[in-house]
Amino acid sequence: MRTHFLPYAAPSIGEDEIAEVADSLRNGWITTGPKVKKFEAAFAEYTGAQHAVAVNSWTGGYHMVLRALGIGPGDEVIVPTLTFCSTANMVVHLGAKPVLVDVDANFMAPPAAIERAITGRTKAIVPVHYGGQSCDMDAILAMAARHKIPVIEDAAHAAGAAYRGRMIGVHGKATIFSFYATKNMTTGEGGMITTSDKEFAQRLRMLALHGMSRDAWARYTAAGSWCYEVLEPGYKYNMTDIQAALGIHQLRKLNSFIGRRRAIAWRFDEAFADLPEIRTPRQLPRRTHTYHIYAIHLDRARLAIDRAQFIEMMAMRGIGTSVHFIPLHRHPYYSEAYGYNASQFPTADRLFEGLASLPCYPKMTEQDVEDVIAAVREVVIANRRTGKSAVA
Ligand SMILES: Cc1ncc(COP(=O)(O)O)c(C=O)c1O
Repeated sequence: MRTHFLPYAAPSIGEDEIAEVADSLRNGWITTGPKVKKFEAAFAEYTGAQHAVAVNSWTGGYHMVLRALGIGPGDEVIVPTLTFCSTANMVVHLGAKPVLVDVDANFMAPPAAIERAITGRTKAIVPVHYGGQSCDMDAILAMAARHKIPVIEDAAHAAGAAYRGRMIGVHGKATIFSFYATKNMTTGEGGMITTSDKEFAQRLRMLALHGMSRDAWARYTAAGSWCYEVLEPGYKYNMTDIQAALGIHQLRKLNSFIGRRRAIAWRFDEAFADLPEIRTPRQLPRRTHTYHIYAIHLDRARLAIDRAQFIEMMAMRGIGTSVHFIPLHRHPYYSEAYGYNASQFPTADRLFEGLASLPCYPKMTEQDVEDVIAAVREVVIANRRTGKSAVA
């Protein structure tokens, strides 16, 4: 039995990050400044993207990307139902309709399902690289090009992922990453948009700061000027130097973080291989998976317990778990506003019933990993469907 609870996720913050944040606090430049520029340049270099725009969250970045594409009332944006609410909420904020599509057994929307959802009003397609594994980008990009619809990638889980040898961040019109506290690399809250379109990137930078023609660095430094003009009403989605201070060091460590996540994931794969009651995530060909999420699927037909009981029994053994995600069509807002229901999304709905994400992050010790394995095996084996009732 564990002596302390293993949280579902925890960041790996080292002395480098702490010293860099302290440096920002001491030098007095705490909002958007030189560290944001440095972080953007490093991220662009890492992904191979031509432009990287740092923002205060994935959500803010996505909101601006949709707005910069001119999406508004009467328009439609295609998103998978198995995603975080933000992927659809921002579409609603702009007065457009999120058109939900079902996913396949690998948790992502297949290109054919996306194509079937296209109408004359479709203004963007948003594939979600679930868990940090790329969608089928060749097929999605080819299909989107045929319909002349831009692809915006939800890479909230996918910093450091690759598709056919090219990093996520260089494929679609724009790619948005999240640096939320639980992500592969973190700035507490934060995000990054990458694009190969220079004008698009400039527009995003401006939108991130109220649509003003000059940022703080260009106004408050010795070489700066007090004068600015508002070119369009924008938002306040800029990243601060304090966040970038974290990001610069997290990015340097990203490959080693992913290496550790992958090693844990592979250990889980091996440890659960003899349990027909659970399906482990599939590593698809031609992808570099970040294993931001290690989601197992419990086969309800073979188990005497449901997912909620599984999570409870894991917690009783000191292990935190999570669920990614409650499909959007199951949320009251989406079912009431758009009439979405389970029958339209049979795969996501069935998957959801058995989904559970296990802890999988660099800070876990070997003992933590073995404790997760032992707890899963114990709960599953004790609750094999034999006609008997659940064993806590
Ligand atoms: C798939 C997906 N998209 C978007 C987001 C939103 O990211 P952020 O919290 O940085 O706005 C998340 C966050 O967890 C997510 O999982």
